Amino acid sequence: MIKKISHIAVVVPKLEEAMTFWVDALGLTLDHVEHVEAQGVDVAFLPSGESDIELLRPVDEESGVARYLQKRGPGMHHICFEVDDIEATLARLKAHNIPLINEEPTFGTGGKKIAFVHPKGTGGVLVELYELTPDEPARRLERMDAMRHRLTEGRRVYAQGVRAFFAGLRYGRNEEE
Ligand code: CO
Repeated sequence: MIKKISHIAVVVPKLEEAMTFWVDALGLTLDHVEHVEAQGVDVAFLPSGESDIELLRPVDEESGVARYLQKRGPGMHHICFEVDDIEATLARLKAHNIPLINEEPTFGTGGKKIAFVHPKGTGGVLVELYELTPDEPARRLERMDAMRHRLTEGRRVYAQGVRAFFAGLRYGRNEEE
């Protein structure tokens, strides 16, 4: 069963510049920025109701997202649905002969199960599926708690200039590693 749209991911060349539209003009709030080593990207999370807009900025030039940006330019990258049973959803897709990038779920951040559906089976849209692990909400809270201090400072800096804000986040990230 599909629970909701988890996030819509948009590839941008620079997070700072993207904030001009998404935050300043549209009015979304920047919740936090995470570096996802496995995908070679920085991800900015902008909650919108029950879902997030995720801005993906490639850090590693060899990453899939970097190649996507070089080839197709900035724009929408994928839609992610949260499901309650990812194996059941994959089985359903297979029964409909939909080609899958991940035949079996792989593990994403926080231990969640994820899988991608191939765009050639979806009319050109890259679709991601998420199944949260039972302890994911608790982990997320923990992580948010750890970030609160940094965010408080970050938001203050943000008012003074986005560039400094991101520099601050990046500094914080390195400290954490
Ligand atoms: Co995603």
